[in-house]
Amino acid sequence: MGAAMVAGCHSAAPPSQLLQQQAEGQRLFAVGCAHCHELNDLRLKQVPPDLHGVFRRAALPDGAPATDAEVEQILQTGKGMMPSFTYQMTASQMDAVVAYLHVY
Ligand code: HEC
Repeated sequence: MGAAMVAGCHSAAPPSQLLQQQAEGQRLFAVGCAHCHELNDLRLKQVPPDLHGVFRRAALPDGAPATDAEVEQILQTGKGMMPSFTYQMTASQMDAVVAYLHVY
């Protein structure tokens, strides 16, 4: 898996380690998050918010500050109809998803 996988990354040439982490996050997001956040395939009444550019806004959809720590917290505890990912992802996988969301 190489830097070429991160198509559409506009950030100013981060170190390749970050690109690799983002590519890993992209894979994890596609598997674990996109079906709800892009498709709402479970037809939740509480429609999962669009996360494109989530870190380019000051606040998360619920109004909390858009920080890595806040999103990591949501991944650990879950929120509303969103499940916790504590038993599905390691801490470094959560870091990778958060890194990907910065360029998503
Ligand atoms: C079962 C469907 C589902 C899955 C899977 C899911 N989410 Fe969510 N997500 C939701 C819903 C519903 C909300 C809205 C929760 C609320 O505001 O109470 C949400 C909210 C969020 C928010 C915004 C929280 C806020 O405070 O505004 C973020 C960020 C987020 N999800 C990230 C993720 C990531 C990253 C993944 C994959 C690791 C993921 N979600 C997987 C349903 C899901």
